Amino acid sequence: MTLPKIDHRIDVTHAGGQYPVLVGHGLLKAGSHWEGLLSGHILVVSNDRVSALYLDTLKASLTSSAACDVLIVPDGEQHKHLGTWQQVLDALVTLGAQRDATVVALGGGVIGDLAGFAAASYMRGIAVIQMPTTLLAQVDAAIGGKTGVNHPRGKNLIGAFHAPRAVLADLDTLQSLDQRDYQAGLAEVVKYGAIRDLEFLVWLEGQLEALSQRDPHTLTEAVARSVRNKAEVVAADEREGGLRAILNFGHSFGHALETAGAYTQLRHGEAVAIGMVLASQLSEALGRVPVGTHTRLSELLSALGLPIEPPQGSDPAALLELMRLDKKNHSGALRLVLLDALGQATVDTVAEGDILECLQRACQ
Ligand code: GLY
Repeated sequence: MTLPKIDHRIDVTHAGGQYPVLVGHGLLKAGSHWEGLLSGHILVVSNDRVSALYLDTLKASLTSSAACDVLIVPDGEQHKHLGTWQQVLDALVTLGAQRDATVVALGGGVIGDLAGFAAASYMRGIAVIQMPTTLLAQVDAAIGGKTGVNHPRGKNLIGAFHAPRAVLADLDTLQSLDQRDYQAGLAEVVKYGAIRDLEFLVWLEGQLEALSQRDPHTLTEAVARSVRNKAEVVAADEREGGLRAILNFGHSFGHALETAGAYTQLRHGEAVAIGMVLASQLSEALGRVPVGTHTRLSELLSALGLPIEPPQGSDPAALLELMRLDKKNHSGALRLVLLDALGQATVDTVAEGDILECLQRACQ
């Protein structure tokens, strides 16, 4: 049996202070490393699949006598809506949770966003500890304090910024991830290389076999480096006044693809992978990056098992319409994250005709 081990501690600075992201092995088993972060009544929010795998471990690692309740919500992005958010709030009210209560989000990005948003709104804000069990949540969703739910007409349209008290990324949970979910998480890992860390992108290109084998050492490095990139960006711009928007590379196209598929056709990471290919194609078409940039990115994503084209039957005009609701848009103009080079991104206004042309080419 391997002993629990914290491989990396990365502190994230935000307006209200700082919180640690602990990256390591066996962390869920090692209550001694994080139990002190809990306070008041504890509500663990999880889904069927994750709770079947990890809830007993989590509960067994709690040594204190603190009251701990569990709410299981259905799995999947299509369940991240106001109805499920209300269920979490109802559970907190039923428990009589007070301001010192702690919500523990045990699961992937859907659970983290939903439980985080309930924690942000209950009594105007109680503590949340993020315990992400998917690659995507460990490298992105659990860090940075974005919480929220979807509206039928748009992804993450309802939400709040609410920094977690801590993030515990137990790398052992990645070994039991469904292959599609694992690969979807790799899209967000590649994103950091594409937008601000070319050295990391080159390293990833050399780790294809190790990544596909989920080699523990390679995964530790990939997660820690991704977390460091995210921590630096959100520390510089917590509320997305500028820089943080680059983290949405591929997301304007991606969110439209997810919404068009009723949140069931594509995993978030898969939609982001396709979106990054489209955004790099557009960057190339606009003359911002050398020809070949989008091919290099597509080849990496494809080698990692990710889709690089919109699903069959995608309607360019309908996707463009969905993109009009993106949060980055200002005053009716569509704004997208574009590449200025591999490893360098900015947000810019793009003419609708250019976006439509890009979509039409990709949907042929
Ligand atoms: N996932 C994008 C962000 O946290 O800003």
